Amino acid sequence: MVKKIKIAPSLLAADFSDLKNEIKKAEDGGAEWLHLDVMDGAFVPNISFGPCVISVLRPKTEMFFDVHLMIEEPVRYLEDYKKAGADGITVHFEACDDVEATLKAVKDLGLKAGLALKPKTPVSVIAPYIELCDMVLIMTVEPGFGGQKLIEETVVKIGEVASLAKEKGVELEIEADGGIGAANAGKLIAQGLTVAVAGSAVFKSADVKAAVESIRDARV
Ligand code: DX5
Ligand code: ZN
Repeated sequence: MVKKIKIAPSLLAADFSDLKNEIKKAEDGGAEWLHLDVMDGAFVPNISFGPCVISVLRPKTEMFFDVHLMIEEPVRYLEDYKKAGADGITVHFEACDDVEATLKAVKDLGLKAGLALKPKTPVSVIAPYIELCDMVLIMTVEPGFGGQKLIEETVVKIGEVASLAKEKGVELEIEADGGIGAANAGKLIAQGLTVAVAGSAVFKSADVKAAVESIRDARV
């Protein structure tokens, strides 16, 4: 029996003029986490939202706020996201001068710490940091935009993280992000995925609850 995965709808695909209701739909639909994509126009070629938007959303839900920072040198802003209401902060390996210090700073704030990898970054780079990670996020598209197609070559990276974690005796959440829906979630779950981030597949669906369940129940 496969363990039940968590679903983290990405707010990037929601109706920005109606965020309060969009969040309610995700929560009522059974999603455990809310994925918040922060983009700075430098690490990625797009700008989304920052701490002030997150802080006004915080009182609207009990969901775990899974903040994905696609920004250069995120260590500069960790406190701001803590204050805004983040429960977990994921930083990019490629964006940090000092990955270890950044992960430690997230943990020192009392938050769950995650390390994200772009599609072309090999899983081996996380080995020195895996003990500091509560989550590893595998990007299954190039970061920057929602609504892209999952890059097939990234799927095996989920299994590679699972093997590395097992080898090191570490328990962590393995998250995949980008182009995920009911049609391809099964193969990610088979690799050991524990959290599926899904933007378009959830928020662009007429039935959010059914969309959440179909991703969670997907099998190969
Ligand atoms: C991309 C973001 C993702 C993305 C997911 O940079 O990190 O969270 O918006 O959206 P979909 O599911 O539409 O690919
Ligand atoms: Zn994301």
